Amino acid sequence: METLKNNLECADCGQQYPLRDGIPDFHDEIFESPRVEMYQFFDASAENYESEEHQSVLYNFYGQLNLPDEAISELNLYFQDLLLDLLLPGERVLDVACGTGLFSRGLLYKASEVYGVDLSWGMLHKAREYSSMNLVRASADKLPFKDDSFHLVICFVAFHLFDDLEKVLREMHRVLVKGGVLVGLTYLLTGEWEKEEHQQTYLDPQGIHFFTVDELGELLEKSGFIDYQHQEHQALIFFTAEKD
Ligand SMILES: C[S@@+](CC[C@H](N)C(=O)[O-])C[C@H]1O[C@@H](n2cnc3c(N)ncnc32)[C@H](O)[C@@H]1O
Repeated sequence: METLKNNLECADCGQQYPLRDGIPDFHDEIFESPRVEMYQFFDASAENYESEEHQSVLYNFYGQLNLPDEAISELNLYFQDLLLDLLLPGERVLDVACGTGLFSRGLLYKASEVYGVDLSWGMLHKAREYSSMNLVRASADKLPFKDDSFHLVICFVAFHLFDDLEKVLREMHRVLVKGGVLVGLTYLLTGEWEKEEHQQTYLDPQGIHFFTVDELGELLEKSGFIDYQHQEHQALIFFTAEKD
């Protein structure tokens, strides 16, 4: 890619992409409801996304963990440490649906490059404010990277939001090097979430889908991943899988 004044030009095909505040925009599709509402929500919540109040909703309401405020940042640190352990010095990282970069900016000192992809401008602008990681506006199901580009692909608190998870997983698989690792954090269809009424009230209107442990495993296998390993924290699942 070559940077022109307000555009980024693909050196291979000549296609140009607009740069907004220095962030290339690869997404030109119009959202339809309920996606419009979802991105409006993420734009609006970017400012306070990392606050304990907001993180508490993610862990305590959706994840059913019932943690006191101080334990919430500890859990975030715990997941960040797991990520650091999975990364070798000098490796390349892609954070899909990066939000504010909460989980990937801590990898900057160890990785050779960290890229964050998201669709929400609000989130991307916050990520830019917080760190110097490379940012791109694109959809998780159409990643603007060459095959075999990254050693680690991470995707936290977003798998349940995608319209077509199989397509997203195929993209993640494509951009990983052989032996590269996918790391995810998402929600399980367990406890209260098993109740039809609970799903109809909180998940269905937003187009959100929670998973069973086996369903995730099957989707990963179908997309070419092996060695699915996971740890469960109530309705929260942290997992890794390797590109075969
Ligand atoms: C709950 S936030 C998680 C942010 C970050 N990964 C974290 O854990 O802090 C979900 C993010 O997914 C992004 N997102 C949802 N669907 C997406 C898609 N199809 N492509 C790229 N980003 C997407 C949203 O814009 C939002 O920033």
